[in-house]
Amino acid sequence: MERRHLAECGSTNTEALNHLRAGGGPLIVSADRQTAGRGRLGRAWHSDGAALTFSVAVTVPAGLDLSGLSLAVGCTVADVLDPAGGRIQLKWPNDLFLDGAKLGGILIEAVPLTAERRGVVIGIGLNLQPLPADADRSAFASGHAALQTLDPAATAGATLDRLAPALRGLLADFETLGFGPWQLAFSRRDLTAGRAVRVGEQAGIARGVSTRGELLLDTDTGLCPISAGELSLRLE
Ligand code: BTN
Repeated sequence: MERRHLAECGSTNTEALNHLRAGGGPLIVSADRQTAGRGRLGRAWHSDGAALTFSVAVTVPAGLDLSGLSLAVGCTVADVLDPAGGRIQLKWPNDLFLDGAKLGGILIEAVPLTAERRGVVIGIGLNLQPLPADADRSAFASGHAALQTLDPAATAGATLDRLAPALRGLLADFETLGFGPWQLAFSRRDLTAGRAVRVGEQAGIARGVSTRGELLLDTDTGLCPISAGELSLRLE
């Protein structure tokens, strides 16, 4: 897979989407700095240079069901960075937590290309270094953690070298198998299993995910599969 590194860009996801729209093949594009990094639900994603920000661009069959892809990506990243388990957990649908604080996130975007193929971009942002004490923390996810607290030697380049082959393998497997094989792996790192949560208007107890990666929410009216939304923990 082609690799490209930029000193600065607006968003590596935008670079990757434009590459696919222009007919490009599989690509991993990373950047030292993003000036317009974005997160899910239209939010800005800020990094101060002490982050690993990159996007993987691939094409897939137009009909491929992408349900659960962000969870499978989260499992793959977590298994590479924390192979023993116990430090990195995943919060449905796209957050990585380290020792209980947000380490980073995943933003998947798709673009139609032809009748047979569509482009998929998997954007990943991971905090690398702890923030300096005087940093403006309001710009970051509250309570964010950093990879170098897990591995003091972690650099953006070395971490990407470890992640790239694992993500390539994941994409090949996902194309034929879907999310099912990752359901168990996700359950081992599920941050919210058994906890009271809210997704939009719906409140209940999180009971893991389905074979399609839907959140299973135990509500007053029964078990509801939820395919998209913003999950917050309820403090009770
Ligand atoms: C989230 O937490 O909502 C997802 C954050 C995803 C951020 C990454 S950084 C690399 C890629 N480029 C972007 O503009 N966003 C993603």
